[in-house]
Amino acid sequence: MTQDELKTLVGQAALHYVVPGDIVGVGTGSTVNKFIDALASMKAQIKGAVSSSNASTERLQALGIPVFDANEVTELSVYIDGADEIDGHGFMVKGGGAALTREKIVAGLARRFVCIADESKLVKVLGNFPLPVEVIPMSAQQVMRRFAALNGTARVRVKDGQPLVTDNGQWIVDVTGLQISEPLAFESEVSQWPGVVTVGVFAHQGADICVLGTGDGVKTMEFARGG
Ligand code: 5RP
Repeated sequence: MTQDELKTLVGQAALHYVVPGDIVGVGTGSTVNKFIDALASMKAQIKGAVSSSNASTERLQALGIPVFDANEVTELSVYIDGADEIDGHGFMVKGGGAALTREKIVAGLARRFVCIADESKLVKVLGNFPLPVEVIPMSAQQVMRRFAALNGTARVRVKDGQPLVTDNGQWIVDVTGLQISEPLAFESEVSQWPGVVTVGVFAHQGADICVLGTGDGVKTMEFARGG
């Protein structure tokens, strides 16, 4: 199967975790787009969605799925999103689509995080994929120097020759050369650097379940989350 077919497979498999009558948390990216397309078949059974990006909101609304503001919701039964990397503990790197801040916010509302991914995303140690970090623009150089001190190489993400501006009006710094062997501690440390809005390590909000698309079909991994 191609990577695109694996994404379709897990996007459809994720319907299993959608609770009828509820509002579902929806992530961002090409894998989630497959999920959103599949969710259209269930739209009469759900109240709607809380979305993690303008792109996902537009796709949901185009399919007739109502989108609620995160402030209208106190809890979600499930948040379904992709990942750039996921390890054997359900810790992830996310933000390849620049939506990491809203993804963490919506994930924070959910009782369960279901990660949908093709098998290329499964890694032993996080850090091969350039780590996205959303920053307030005036902090970018300072944050990049801090990553250099950790032997990382950081660059401001560019689109059409200009710094990419996120849905939140901020910039993304992408960091290569890191081996994130202690994701919980790493996320805690980088999150308190001045100017960091969100670091793309999702360890404190790791996945509860990973629906992984493989050449042998869909495999489900479950992770024990403390507290
Ligand atoms: C967007 C994300 C995505 O979940 C991640 O980039 C994976 O995307 P894709 O499904 O297109 O590979 O974190 O900010």
